[in-house]
Amino acid sequence: MRALLIGGSGQLGAEIARRWNGYEIVAPSHAALDLEDASAFEAALDRSQPGVVVNCAAFHNVDRCTAEPERAFAANAVAVGKAAAACKARDVAFVTISTDYVFDGSANAPYVESDAPNPISAYGVSKLAGEYLVALQQSRALVVRTCGVYGLRASSTKGYTFIDRIIAQATAGEAIRIVSDVVASPTYAGHLAEALQRLVSAGATGLYHVANAGPVSWYDFAAEALRQAGIAHPIEPISASEWKSETRRPAFSALGSERLSALSIAMPSWQEGIAAYLTDKRACDRGG
Ligand SMILES: NC(=O)c1ccc[n+]([C@@H]2O[C@H](COP(=O)([O-])OP(=O)(O)OC[C@H]3O[C@@H](n4cnc5c(N)ncnc54)[C@H](OP(=O)(O)O)[C@@H]3O)[C@@H](O)[C@H]2O)c1
Repeated sequence: MRALLIGGSGQLGAEIARRWNGYEIVAPSHAALDLEDASAFEAALDRSQPGVVVNCAAFHNVDRCTAEPERAFAANAVAVGKAAAACKARDVAFVTISTDYVFDGSANAPYVESDAPNPISAYGVSKLAGEYLVALQQSRALVVRTCGVYGLRASSTKGYTFIDRIIAQATAGEAIRIVSDVVASPTYAGHLAEALQRLVSAGATGLYHVANAGPVSWYDFAAEALRQAGIAHPIEPISASEWKSETRRPAFSALGSERLSALSIAMPSWQEGIAAYLTDKRACDRGG
């Protein structure tokens, strides 16, 4: 099976390229193929003749989406809808990644697939619009919502990985302040990539939530990352209101799934996500 991977240099895309055993991965760079260029995407489809397209590209700097909603919609909605249509026309399976930010954060238990979305940011609205444009195609498309992705390859949008930054700050003896009243499901890109392969291999379509299991505040997540890294360093808990941003973000956006168990897919816990990340990072640093 050949997979055309869009966004292959990103956190998630790099793990798909590394981990999808049995797939031939064709992963043009962003410079070589811009998903917003629909005719270039169609030409890439016709050239590479994939069995599946996996779209990991997004315009996901949340504050920039607030400032530039047209760009957010062009990248996260219109381009994704057109890509799904092009795949449907060629009977190619289409997978795209969405976000916990489609929810408003008023829940107190992990959101599942049947919960009603209610985005509170331009980013969330644009990603939900992308989901809807894909659903309009009524094709064999798979939309996977995930949350708080971190991987060995830092996102070019952010330029760092959360865990690495915490460890670097602690090692340098710097003060660390992390929000303790924002709860999510931080997800290791390696675990997400493996679950995606299982979903695609099972022929799954429709909407799935895929995230490391268990809600956790970013403060507790950071503290556990330092504990597992064997670093004793204090972290000061702060409130999200102390974190200056123009954009509203959900205070609770942990994801759970009511659909994965039917495919016998169980996501590792967020603590196991940290452990796997640190193990893979050490192997990577050793050149493994
Ligand atoms: N990161 C999170 O915390 C998080 C949480 C929930 C959901 N998600 C979703 O998960 C998906 C993957 O996120 P990620 O963290 O892996 O992102 P990432 O690390 O920022 O990677 C995005 C990738 O897409 C490429 N790209 C961006 N715009 C493109 C375009 N118009 N055409 C072609 N390629 C383009 C980027 O290339 P360049 O770097 O060269 O531009 C990069 O390879 C996204 O859909 C995102 O919305 C992420």
